[in-house]
Amino acid sequence: MSEAPAALELVDVAAGYGAADILASVTLRAAAGRITTIAGPNGAGKSTLIKTLAGLLRPRRGRILVGGRDVTALSPAERARAGLGYVPQERNVFRNLTIGENLRIGHEFIHRRASRREFALARARVLDLFPDLAPRLNGLAGALSGGQRQMLAMGCALISGPSVLLLDEPSAGLSPRYVATMLDAVAQVNRSGVSVLMIEQNLVEAMRVSHDAILLVGGEIRGRWNAAAFLADPEVRTLFLGGTQRVAAPAQPERQRDGASAA
Ligand SMILES: Nc1ncnc2c1ncn2[C@@H]1O[C@H](COP(=O)(O)OP(=O)(O)OP(=O)(O)O)[C@@H](O)[C@H]1O
Ligand SMILES: [Mg+2]
Repeated sequence: MSEAPAALELVDVAAGYGAADILASVTLRAAAGRITTIAGPNGAGKSTLIKTLAGLLRPRRGRILVGGRDVTALSPAERARAGLGYVPQERNVFRNLTIGENLRIGHEFIHRRASRREFALARARVLDLFPDLAPRLNGLAGALSGGQRQMLAMGCALISGPSVLLLDEPSAGLSPRYVATMLDAVAQVNRSGVSVLMIEQNLVEAMRVSHDAILLVGGEIRGRWNAAAFLADPEVRTLFLGGTQRVAAPAQPERQRDGASAA
């Protein structure tokens, strides 16, 4: 049986900030057309992993592939142009600029010579996805609520049409209503053909929309599950129920998404 092509692949990656490695030897793949969620306790190295994928942190060892292409030597900007969108965990919009200006910067970063019409079309697609932003285009990003700001950050990453989207805790700090809205938007983006690798702590909501789940603990991959089975796994339940993070309910049978893939 041939495996689905990988949207993203890390092969034996080691990375860290000072002398010590945070990621020891990480090998993982995120399948094309799917939503893969990385879960793990605070400090596990989740953001470090995603920063290494985005190119903000150079791996000390190993290779990174996007759609089969080796991007290990590419800068963050080159990786973005290769189709990798990234939404950081924090400080992910320019608060002193308007929503419209933020979107324009997101678009021009990749499409430098885009016409006004091309920008308008790309912006319309983002506003379709996040209608809350439409009446606020001339307002400052700093005046948005946390949920709206997170939508703008995702809109800025999406506006250039990436093939793979990296999201670092898209629902962190949001009210329950916005958590669901945000993750529904992630699912909608995925259905439009974008492969997603996201980090999430709202695991019940995240598993509702995810296809695959990967557990990272202490900088090491502990396992990989179909999303429907993740929260029922005894190791996962012990880890999250025993720690500071809560898992409210076991996975429901209807969450079975195995084999599902986006158009
Ligand atoms: N810029 C940095 N310089 C030095 N050490 C860092 C830096 N960023 C993170 N670390 C350390 O690396 C380890 C992993 O941090 P990381 O942010 O990757 O974890 P995380 O799994 O994303 O945690 P959280 O759930 O809190 O977001 C932690 O021990 C952290 O203190
Ligand atoms: Mg983090």
